Amino acid sequence: MALWATSSSQNLFLASSAATRYGNGRTMSGRNGRRRDSGPIVHVGMADQAEMETVSIAYKEGDRARPNWADNTPLSRLVEALISFKPLYSLLKLGARQVFISTAEKKGIPWRQMANEILESDVYKELDSIRNPSLQYPDYYLSPFHAYDDGNLSWLAAAEAEVATMSMTLRAIPYASTLEKATQEMRGNWLQAIKQHHMMHSGNAKIETVLDIGCSVGVSTGLLADEFPSAKVTGLDLSPYFLSVAQYKEKKRPPRKNPITWIHAAGENTGLPSKSFDLVSFGYVFHECPERAIVALVNEAFRLLKPGGTLAITDQAPKSKIVQELPPALFTLMKSTEPFMNEYYLTDLEGRLREAGFVNVKSMLTDPRHMTMTATVPHQHD
Ligand SMILES: C[S@@+](CC[C@H](N)C(=O)[O-])C[C@H]1O[C@@H](n2cnc3c(N)ncnc32)[C@H](O)[C@@H]1O
Repeated sequence: MALWATSSSQNLFLASSAATRYGNGRTMSGRNGRRRDSGPIVHVGMADQAEMETVSIAYKEGDRARPNWADNTPLSRLVEALISFKPLYSLLKLGARQVFISTAEKKGIPWRQMANEILESDVYKELDSIRNPSLQYPDYYLSPFHAYDDGNLSWLAAAEAEVATMSMTLRAIPYASTLEKATQEMRGNWLQAIKQHHMMHSGNAKIETVLDIGCSVGVSTGLLADEFPSAKVTGLDLSPYFLSVAQYKEKKRPPRKNPITWIHAAGENTGLPSKSFDLVSFGYVFHECPERAIVALVNEAFRLLKPGGTLAITDQAPKSKIVQELPPALFTLMKSTEPFMNEYYLTDLEGRLREAGFVNVKSMLTDPRHMTMTATVPHQHD
């Protein structure tokens, strides 16, 4: 079980709707799923008294290192066989998409409306300034993905990426009464884990340069830029469509003191200078990659980080009790649109980080379903 040390005053942080910044220097906290919320989720209101009475701060781990359904069990083999049967896969994919949209809309996320707003906007004008026409896509990136035949290489996927993120946030924190509160808990704990790790292991170096690999439409990048406003923040992704949305949305918001730079490149081979970043972050990227790509991404992050720099990975948590106990219908649906999910769950990520040269490797649940793994590049290395 992962436990965050806390005090009652610190617990107010995530329950307070006034806390619009994430991880503002306080010890992180969370809940154990004992909430009783069923009210509207997306509207933002003041925290009520019950929410202020913070419950436990534990996120529960299951009994195993990873879910049974990722191992080579008969059930897991059956699910893989079903998914690889093309006609059934097409049905599952369609079903999964319907489930994503209707679940989100039932929770108050206006999925189709938000996606249409992007699709009907001027976002297309951003593509030429973002796209690197000579980029070679890794083969795994060209598979159908998330129920999109063109994977992440389409405008529809780009237009729906932010609503999909919102939906994922509400799935992770089902007891939150608003999307804002769910976001504060999920992303606040992630940012806090990064800051605590860096403070502890960097030798007091400030975070002045940040690279967000797999930045998608810029949600994680924006949060990093908000958290480290004096840092130079770069978002990098393989999808020029996602980056176009990221750039378009940034242009619509008030200008930042340090504008975000967007780069269309492969995270395995960024072409950026060695030892140039204090923080390299991967948010929800690795469960979308085969193990060989995860290894290459980790090695590239090691090259890019300054000595004492921090690597931060946040993603699905193999040790999460909720994840381990997902009902078969749900994990089958999930696997049907995530071709590399099994490989992710079977990867010894901590071991891979150590093999790449990282030290101080730590992993903890930062919400009921997700973990944040942090690590340091040794201060002395060639
Ligand atoms: C789930 S999204 C990331 C979400 C975002 N980081 C956040 O936290 O909101 C995963 C992203 O990783 C990108 N990606 C996958 N493999 C990549 C690679 N090898 N290099 C760069 N980006 C990659 C995908 O294009 C996609 O945008």
